This record gives sequence, structure tokens and C-alpha cells, in this order.
Amino acid sequence: MKSREREFKFTLKDFNYLRNITNKKTGIMVSDDKFDMFYARLSKHVRRLGLSDFHDYCQVISRGESQEMITLINSVTTNLTSFFREKHHFDYMKSDFIPGHVKNKQDRKLLRIWSAGCSMGEEPYSIAMQALESLPLGWQVKITATDVDTDVLAKARTGVYSASKLDGVSDSRLKRWFYKGSESKEGYVKVRKELTDVIEFKQLNLIDNWFFQDKFDLVFCRNVLIYFDIDTKKKIADKFHRVTQDDGCLMIGHSESLFNVSSKFKLIGNTIYENL
Ligand SMILES: C[S@@+](CC[C@H](N)C(=O)[O-])C[C@H]1O[C@@H](n2cnc3c(N)ncnc32)[C@H](O)[C@@H]1O
Repeated sequence: MKSREREFKFTLKDFNYLRNITNKKTGIMVSDDKFDMFYARLSKHVRRLGLSDFHDYCQVISRGESQEMITLINSVTTNLTSFFREKHHFDYMKSDFIPGHVKNKQDRKLLRIWSAGCSMGEEPYSIAMQALESLPLGWQVKITATDVDTDVLAKARTGVYSASKLDGVSDSRLKRWFYKGSESKEGYVKVRKELTDVIEFKQLNLIDNWFFQDKFDLVFCRNVLIYFDIDTKKKIADKFHRVTQDDGCLMIGHSESLFNVSSKFKLIGNTIYENL
């Protein structure tokens, strides 16, 4: 969009200010080509606040009011996700990880999983379905699902999705794990209580301190590290190692790798790492 067509003046200096503060707060690196995206996503806040341009918006952000900072962060995260995205991780849970875990942890009968960067919930609900289907009777699964973005967490907690978003879900899973909406809810589905009961959604910024007491058996952090610079990736990967059980696993996204990022994990499958 050419600057003269824009409702609000948005300069490179404004863009640099906003992307630097986003980076400082979240670790997300914002490339030059996100200029238009920043304008598109943030101009509604300039309007809502009754400001005349982005320079004024930068001034508001610089005051450090927490609500506006949260709004800025929520606006610039990329939340693309889907049910059973990167299906091979769920296949691995079913065929390898859960059978091995069940064999080795008979005394515990518990599977603890973290979905880090869970976006709107499709990932942790998919994990919950797979775990509940694969674990024997008498076993428990506890899933912690976190994201920096409070808007996506609010959406995730509702467990309500447009039926058109359920492409990755088989008919039998649809029947078993979802309520179908009718009348005013026509075209929507809601996840069943069995799924929400095993997931705890919490806000967590991966570059801040983590609050976990117990270690996880399995960590999903998919399509999140890709947004960070190499030093941030290294720090976070080392922290994943610390919060994962000795025989635990870490799943990352299809275009991510821990090569030159962490030597504390061993690659055992397609974007599947085991703790060393
Ligand atoms: C592309 S989505 C990936 C969602 C899901 N893991 C998947 O693979 O389908 C990336 C998510 O990471 C979150 N994120 C980005 N920076 C973060 C940070 N510093 N701490 C926690 N979550 C972050 C975003 O808010 C977004 O919801």
C-alpha cells in the first residue's frame, strides 16, 4: 500500500520502533517485509485510541502501559495452526512414544505434555485426543498449553471451532470428541469436556522465566522457534532440555531444526528429538 493511500502516517522509524519493542518483549524477529502487515494489524488500534498517526501510537506504547503492550503483542503474533497439523508427530505418539512410556512408567501411570506456543488450541486438543485414545485404562494425561498471546488463549479455552476448520479430523474423531452445534451454533463444533478436562491453558512468554514444578514427558514446540534469533533459540532449547524427563521427547515444526542450536537432544525421527 502506498503511503498516500494510508489513513494514518506510518514511517520506517515508527515501524522500527514497534518491531524492536516486539522483539524485546517476545523474542520474535520482524523482517523488513512485515511493514505492510504491521500497518494492517495495528491501524485499528491507532483508530480505537483516537490518535492521528503511528508516531502518536509509538508514544502510547513507549509509556509502557501493560494493556496496550498486550494488544500490540497479540496483534503481531502469527497464529496459523490446525488440528493434527504435522500428523507424523501424532502417529509417533501412538506407535512409539506412548507404548514405550506405558511400559516404563507403570508406577506413575501419568503422561505429562506441554504444548508451547499452542495458538488457538488445535494443537493441544489434537494431543489430548491422541493421548486419550492411546493410553490404557487407569492412565492419566495432563497437558499444559501455553502461548504469549492472550487472545488466542481465550479462543482456545472456549473450545469452539468453525466446522470448516476440522479438515484434519476424521469422522469417527468428530463423533467421539466434539459436540455439533445446532440452530444459532450451526456450522460450529465444541470440544467435549473429556478434552478440556485434561488441558490447562496458561499465558507464558517463552523468553521469560518458566514456572513449572514437574518435568514433562513430551514437549511440542512447533512453528514457534522459527520466529526467534539463534541466541534465543539456543536459550529456549536448553530450557526445554531442563524441563523434560530424561527419556522425554521434543517435537518441533517441519521447517525447524536443532542443528547448531542444541546438542542436548538427539534426532530420532522427522523433527522428533529425544533428551540426551
Ligand atoms: C504459528 S503458531 C504455531 C501454533 C502451533 N504450535 C502449531 O504448530 O500449529 C506460533 C505461536 O507461537 C506463539 N508465540 C510467539 N512468540 C512467543 C513467545 N515468545 N512465547 C510464547 N509463545 C509465542 C504465537 O503467539 C503463536 O500462537
